[in-house]
Amino acid sequence: MSDAPEEHKTPAASRTVMTELVLPEDTNNYGHIFGGRLLALADKCAAMAAMRHCRMPVVTASFDRVDFLQPVRQGMIVILTSEVNAAFTTSMEVGVRIEAEDPRSGARLATSRALISLVAIDENGRPSPVPPLEPETDEERQRMARARERKAQRLRLRDEF
Ligand SMILES: CC(C)(COP(=O)(O)OP(=O)(O)OC[C@H]1O[C@@H](n2cnc3c(N)ncnc32)[C@H](O)[C@@H]1OP(=O)(O)O)[C@@H](O)C(=O)NCCC(=O)NCCS
Repeated sequence: MSDAPEEHKTPAASRTVMTELVLPEDTNNYGHIFGGRLLALADKCAAMAAMRHCRMPVVTASFDRVDFLQPVRQGMIVILTSEVNAAFTTSMEVGVRIEAEDPRSGARLATSRALISLVAIDENGRPSPVPPLEPETDEERQRMARARERKAQRLRLRDEF
């Protein structure tokens, strides 16, 4: 493992927004987007936020929470927003919010959210230290505190599974 990077990064520095149109090949026989398609988009959006935080390649270690709150229909615009919630030694928890926008009215609905853990890796594929996260707002500080609480629980569940 190389030396830990010193430079602090804000959550805003990792914020990533991704926009996709829901096409027929993305949907099931009810015309709703496949859950797996949303997971793939969320994974990609989370990876970009994590890479922006650490400026290194990352791998996904786990998805520990995904909620599908509303179905997303063909023809809707999907907007994914990701941000690093907490940075640990070599891993980061990234939160992804997914909204669906009706292209005719512009109305937006929160449809899904996910918590994804990613690990920075070096050229040998080994975990590598990431910069500390420096939250700027009370909300970001609370989000980081909750992510810290989840980390121990996440590893315990991994070992029990
Ligand atoms: C994720 C991976 C790099 C962890 O490697 P490892 O040798 O188990 O590493 P360690 O046990 O030293 O853990 C390294 C970090 O990963 C975290 N981690 C390991 N498993 C985890 C899991 N299931 N969920 C969340 N974090 C996890 C550890 O908490 C640790 O974080 P920290 O350094 O911030 O404390 C390794 O398991 C791997 O390469 N998995 C395959 C990844 C992959 O192919 N993803 C899909 C395609 S991108």
